[in-house]
Amino acid sequence: MIGLIQKVLVDLIRRHGGDDAVQAICRRADVPPERAFRIDTDYADTECLRLIEATGEYFGLDEKALYRLYADQFIKETKALFPMFYQMSPSAREFLKRQPRVHDTLASSLRSAPGRDRVRDKFNVEEVGDTLRVTYRSPNRLCGLYEALFERLLDEYGETGSIEVTSCQKRGDPLCTFCLRVESSGE
Ligand code: HEM
Repeated sequence: MIGLIQKVLVDLIRRHGGDDAVQAICRRADVPPERAFRIDTDYADTECLRLIEATGEYFGLDEKALYRLYADQFIKETKALFPMFYQMSPSAREFLKRQPRVHDTLASSLRSAPGRDRVRDKFNVEEVGDTLRVTYRSPNRLCGLYEALFERLLDEYGETGSIEVTSCQKRGDPLCTFCLRVESSGE
């Protein structure tokens, strides 16, 4: 997993629990607490999943509550780090259409071609009438994170919308499918 995901998580942990929390969670997840995650470097997925789980346990948050907090931190940090991704998209719908390309852009800094392909193959977005049909296939099964980021992105744009999950890897389907509807403020 590209280190942006872990960097945002460590920032969130530090903000809510200080360095003591970072130390305790990293110890629990078997991750060196002094590591500064780089946003242009790939780290083991299993390590990232352990960090997420240990964070939930430490703060006593279920998955939904943790992802909600994470999504807030993620949108704030990515807006500060990559303002152009937001400026390029005048609406949440435009952003959601572009999201796989945003991921590809971040992956282009990785040195290994398999690493870049791995990122590119996770998401696909198609317009079907006025809905967006997103497919997501990843051994990380972070569909709960997708939903939280979708909701937080709507808030960021001051828009409303809905997400319907029509297939899910956690229910045994080969991939997750999200049908997104977004109503822009002007519509
Ligand atoms: C500027 C905004 C964004 C940036 C810079 C960004 C960047 C990234 C990066 C670098 C990863 C790690 C990819 C990997 O190693 O495979 C990632 C993962 C992910 N992102 Fe984004 N992202 C953005 C917005 C979004 C949005 C809006 C959504 C959903 C609506 C989203 C959903 C996800 C999910 C679900 C993953 C986990 C994928 C997995 O490993 O299974 N991202 N993102």
